[in-house]
Amino acid sequence: MSTAIVTGAAGGLGGRIGERLAAAGHDLLLVDLDPAVEEVAAAQGARAVVADLTSPAGVEAVVGAAGDDVAVLVNNAGITRDARATKMTEAEFAAVIDINLTAAIRLTLALEPRYREGAAVINLSSRASLGNFGQANYSASKAGLVGFGRALAQRWAPRVRLNAVAPSLVDTPMTQAMPPDVLTKLVARIPAGRIGTPDDVAGIVAFLASPDAAYITGQVIYACGGRTVAP
Ligand SMILES: NC(=O)c1ccc[n+]([C@@H]2O[C@H](COP(=O)([O-])OP(=O)(O)OC[C@H]3O[C@@H](n4cnc5c(N)ncnc54)[C@H](O)[C@@H]3O)[C@@H](O)[C@H]2O)c1
Repeated sequence: MSTAIVTGAAGGLGGRIGERLAAAGHDLLLVDLDPAVEEVAAAQGARAVVADLTSPAGVEAVVGAAGDDVAVLVNNAGITRDARATKMTEAEFAAVIDINLTAAIRLTLALEPRYREGAAVINLSSRASLGNFGQANYSASKAGLVGFGRALAQRWAPRVRLNAVAPSLVDTPMTQAMPPDVLTKLVARIPAGRIGTPDDVAGIVAFLASPDAAYITGQVIYACGGRTVAP
């Protein structure tokens, strides 16, 4: 059976994405730094790898478990370290770039010999790739994912498709950690009038992974409740 790999699968979005890909018939390999991924995998009948994807050894562990028939890779692991750009420390900048961008690039490339014909790589970008105050590191990492994916989409077509999904705010531990008053103000700017759910995003990922998206590569889908068209 073909393998679908989801990174950051112990988190709010990754777990739901895994469920949708398992329902589409893939053999799931769930990856996270957090050992809780083992319980998530057990509940879904999936395999788990506990690994820090910022280390080459972590990437090797995933490649070793991936097998030779990789149909889907979802680069979903990510963090925020928000601060005003001029006050942002070198460590805050590097930590975000390391996992959100560099680790995704490393894993995508390391799996190159293992993708099946028609495989799909889906990068979790963000509406923040267009620029967010207090998130220079995060915005750069998410814009970088789009550029990387578009560059490889040309090179790897037609064997492997690469696309990105760019949510605005989704109700997960990442946004639950934000000050509630800040979150309320930001949600008020979303034309859809509500925060996104993990399902709002997981359905788009499942679509991009499916044969229905066979003619789509190098694209970004903004799953953001219309935030990109708001003033
Ligand atoms: N929640 C949102 O509002 C939102 C919006 C836009 C984009 N995104 C993106 O979606 C993705 C998933 O976010 P989420 O909301 O589910 O966040 P989350 O914090 O719930 O999950 C992120 C997961 O990534 C894992 N991770 C972090 N560093 C890692 C490392 N070095 N190695 C392996 N795993 C690591 C964490 O352990 C965690 O389980 C992220 O890339 C995030 O930037 C989220």
